[in-house]
Amino acid sequence: MGFMARASRIGEVLSSGDIALSSLDGQVALTLRAMAYRTGAVADMNPIDRPRRSALYLPASNAKAIAKARTLPADVIILDLEDSVAPEAKVEAREAALEAVREGFGGREVAVRANGLDTPWGADDLLAIAGSSADAVLVPKVSSIEDIRHCEAALSAAPPQMQLWAMVETCACILRIDAIAAMSATTRLSLFAMGVNDLAKEMRARLTPERTPFLPFLSIAVAAARTHGLAILDGVCNEFQDAAVFRDEAQQGLLFGFDGKTVIHPAQIDPCNAVFSPSADALQAAHAIIAAFDMPENAGKGAVRVDGKMVELLHLEQARRLVAVAQRIAETAR
Ligand code: COA
Ligand code: MG
Repeated sequence: MGFMARASRIGEVLSSGDIALSSLDGQVALTLRAMAYRTGAVADMNPIDRPRRSALYLPASNAKAIAKARTLPADVIILDLEDSVAPEAKVEAREAALEAVREGFGGREVAVRANGLDTPWGADDLLAIAGSSADAVLVPKVSSIEDIRHCEAALSAAPPQMQLWAMVETCACILRIDAIAAMSATTRLSLFAMGVNDLAKEMRARLTPERTPFLPFLSIAVAAARTHGLAILDGVCNEFQDAAVFRDEAQQGLLFGFDGKTVIHPAQIDPCNAVFSPSADALQAAHAIIAAFDMPENAGKGAVRVDGKMVELLHLEQARRLVAVAQRIAETAR
């Protein structure tokens, strides 16, 4: 839901495809998506269905990377002011990020990752990004609902469509993630990005290709995102020269339910897009499900038979979502 749900009237069909059921102090307390299943409104309108197969980080201090990013097929560009920028380059990087946002990235979604709220640069970063036309500000080390409130307040003057994205990369964030995700109902919060390198550091865990210590956290973060209607991106794979390791990790992210993956190098974009694009087989199956529910003899049914298998309304919703995602990918093909 995120910012889309604010200031809605009871019964209003939100642009997210949700339907407002009740309103407390002008804020939607409860929405119903189920009624939109059969109309296709969810598949057509939900903003979290924007393709975000690959989200490329680049240091905002690296002019060459910024120029190159405009030629790359990443769905999302994340201009980083945090971990990849040295302390002495922070202010210059902020200016470079603002300039890059002004020039744009040819229709790609653009986020700027600010420094942490507890650093000397965090507050000024948020203020500067709020005055830009970036699609989103990505905030690192989010650990509490107070952090989200703080960011929301810092973005009070930002354009209404600017989204707040949060890194999931501290132990405290994992332990409070349901409450943090629930903030999406009343703030700009609309997306989680896993930060597995920082999680490993804080936990003192080992980051192996299998990612065993992090698997429960990946599942919990996806569950929290889905509970509260956020999009969610998997963390980065540091091994940018090993295509097989990357592909396996991206596949693992797909299996866990992520919408896409954050990447750090141009070589990771095509394989990432391939993993997170609906396959031809999956699309064919989705169209068969939609066609089955559209048949007059199946009108009003909750479960039907397709290719010898039971298919329910929940599969119809999945099928519509998949087709909508494929359509958006085709529309934004570059
Ligand atoms: N975005 C855009 N372009 C990038 C890029 C990125 N993330 N990473 C590399 N490139 C460009 C290089 O500038 C180079 O361009 P050129 O062909 O015009 O010379 C080309 O891709 C090949 O780069 P390569 O030599 O293979 O890598 P490198 O040694 O220059 O850089 C890293 C390796 C890891 C330092 C670099 O990929 C990087 O900075 N990644 C992002 C780091 C980051 O943002 N981290 C924070 C989030 S975890
Ligand atoms: Mg980090």
